Formats: sequence, structure tokens, C-alpha cells
Amino acid sequence: MQTPEFLLAPMDGMTRASFRSICFDYGADGATTEMIQSLAFGRAKRPMSPAFQEVLARYPGERNLAAQLIGSDPAAMAESARRLEALGRFDAVDINMGCPARKVVGSGNGAALLKSPERAVAVMAAVKAATSLPVRLKLRLGWDAAHITAPFLVRQAEALGFQSVTLHGRTREQMYLGPVDTPAIRAVCDAVRIPVYANGGVTCASDALAFLRDTHAAGVAIGRAALKAPWIFEDIATLRRGESVGSRRAPERVALLIRLATLTCGHRPEGVAIREMRRFCGWMLAGLTGYDAVLTRLNAVVTLDGFRALLEGYLDDLEKRGDLEIHPELLPKPTLDTVAHRQARRMAKWM
Ligand SMILES: Cc1cc2nc3c(=O)[nH]c(=O)nc-3n(C[C@H](O)[C@H](O)[C@H](O)COP(=O)(O)O)c2cc1C
Repeated sequence: MQTPEFLLAPMDGMTRASFRSICFDYGADGATTEMIQSLAFGRAKRPMSPAFQEVLARYPGERNLAAQLIGSDPAAMAESARRLEALGRFDAVDINMGCPARKVVGSGNGAALLKSPERAVAVMAAVKAATSLPVRLKLRLGWDAAHITAPFLVRQAEALGFQSVTLHGRTREQMYLGPVDTPAIRAVCDAVRIPVYANGGVTCASDALAFLRDTHAAGVAIGRAALKAPWIFEDIATLRRGESVGSRRAPERVALLIRLATLTCGHRPEGVAIREMRRFCGWMLAGLTGYDAVLTRLNAVVTLDGFRALLEGYLDDLEKRGDLEIHPELLPKPTLDTVAHRQARRMAKWM
């Protein structure tokens, strides 16, 4: 069997080059861009217009990076795939058949293709014929429990010569909630030879390894857990060597956040980039003494210099107190699903 791979799953508004590069530094084996709207991209006068510059950015050191297209019009998807190939910067094209947002499925895109298998296959075939880049598919198990189409679609992907498939073990109806159907993923993995990456519900490194074992997958794609702990990829490697993993200390967390903010400021207006850092700070500082006060003070910060000064000052305080570890009792309780639902609501607003 091939060495299993642990990929960063695509997340709209999150997995830009800046965040991906942090995950690659921690050993992610691959990643996918945020989804790119094929109707807009395929028709844009200039593919590298400012609207697409950030989503199409790729940093040196990003290994095994696919660009993801979303859409249900085979011609627009094909044209978008050609344009992606012409850019010469991606290793593969990925097709989104998983996005559950109401507006997305309402126009027949994303997870809606799961209930229109003929259209789904037409899209897959058009993209495959349009590009010599490897093509991948990311999908859910089906629209709902009564329409489990992934086994059929994955076989079609295999027949069309796709490079791999990432399978989220939930239906569209489940959105991001509820149990992931591990046996259903395993049944698909066992039925095809094409590499299938299992996805959904991983919360920590040991989860990822159990999921790999239980699904017989070629690897695991990790989404929300990586937003809170991008070091999960390093933790997985540590566990696979038979060593144990500990929690990350304040200096590493602060350095990571400052690096992420600096990279993000390279793509977006400083104030916007710093505002977006609040959610990463909420995730990554949680559990450190006094982190909630830092989050409150962050609300008034709008520059990178201010951000750095606040976090470095906070770290100084923690160092002086000799209090650099996470305190589990200070961790808030929100679940991964809360994160996803907040985000899904936000996505639904503008798509
Ligand atoms: C905020 C957010 C944005 C997402 N955006 C995309 C996307 O653009 N393309 C995609 O294929 N999946 C997207 N997903 C789904 C994830 O890739 C993944 O399938 C899902 O979160 C389940 O994996 P997890 O439990 O490891 O997070 C998104 C998920 C979240 C939470």
C-alpha cells in the first residue's frame, strides 16, 4: 500500500495561500484552493483579474496543490479548467460536488450535482477532456439518506481516469452536523482502485489515524480541525513514528499568528486582514491565561504593527509569569459544527 497522505481540505474564506502555507510548513501532503466559481472565472475577460488573484495565488513550497472549480455547466467548467491549466501553477483541477450552501445548491451547483448524476458525469467528462492536468473530485455521500450517489459517481471518476477522490462521509442534508458514515466511506474505498481520501469529523491527530484505518482510505483530508490546530499534520507524523504529542505552547502559537497575519496582509487591505485574524486568534489562543482579554483588545486593532505589538506584549506577560501552557479548563466548548454553521451562514449570504 502507498504511504497514506494527509491533506488540507478546501475551505472557502479560509484555505488561502497564506493559511495553506502554514499547514505545509507543518507537513501537509497537499491542499486545494477555495472554490472558484466557474461561471465567473470561465467568462472573465482576464483570468488574473484582481477578483481572482488571491484565490489563484500559490506560494513556493506548496506541494500537491489542486485548484477547485464549482459549477454545473459543463462548458463553463471545461473553459475554467483550460484557463487553470494555462496559468501553469496548479498540480490538478478539483471539482466541487459537496458544497451544501442553499444558494449554491439552489442554482444546481456543488452538492446539487449529487442528485443529478447524469449532469454530474457530464461535468466530470467535460473537465477531464478539457485539461491534461490531473482531475480530482470532492463529493459527499449523496443528497440525503435516500439518494446515496457517491458509489456510482466515484466509479465514474475512476472510469474517466480521475486522479483521486475526496469523500466527505455525510450527505447534503446533514450539512456539517451529525455522525460521519465511516462504513459507507469504507465500502466506496473497497470498491474502487482510484485513491479515495476520507473526509469529515476529524478533530485531532489520533482521530485522523483511526479514520484512515477504519475507512481503508488512501489518506485523510482535514478541514476544520486544521483551522484550530494547523500543527495537526505534524502531530500525525509524530504519532505515526510511535511518539506521543503534546499541546503547543504560547510562543509557537503567537509566532504562527503573526506569520499568518503578515502573509494575509500581502493579499488584502491591512484592516480587513487583521479583522480576519480575530477568528484564528480565538481558535489558537484559547486556553492560554488571559486570552479572552487579548481577544477583546484585538477588536480595536486595525494594523499589522498593532497586531504584532499586542501579541508580542501578551507573550512577554505570559513569559514573565512562566505561564506558557494551555489550560484545558480555560478552553471554550464550541464544537467544530458550530464553526461550520456560522461559516455556512456567511457563505450562503454572498453566494
Ligand atoms: C468554512 C468552510 C468552508 C468550506 N469550503 C469548501 C470549499 O470551498 N470546497 C469544498 O470542497 N469543501 C468546502 N468545505 C468542506 C470541507 O472541505 C470539508 O469537506 C468539511 O468541512 C468536512 O471536513 P472536516 O470535518 O474535517 O471539517 C468547507 C467547509 C467549511 C467548514
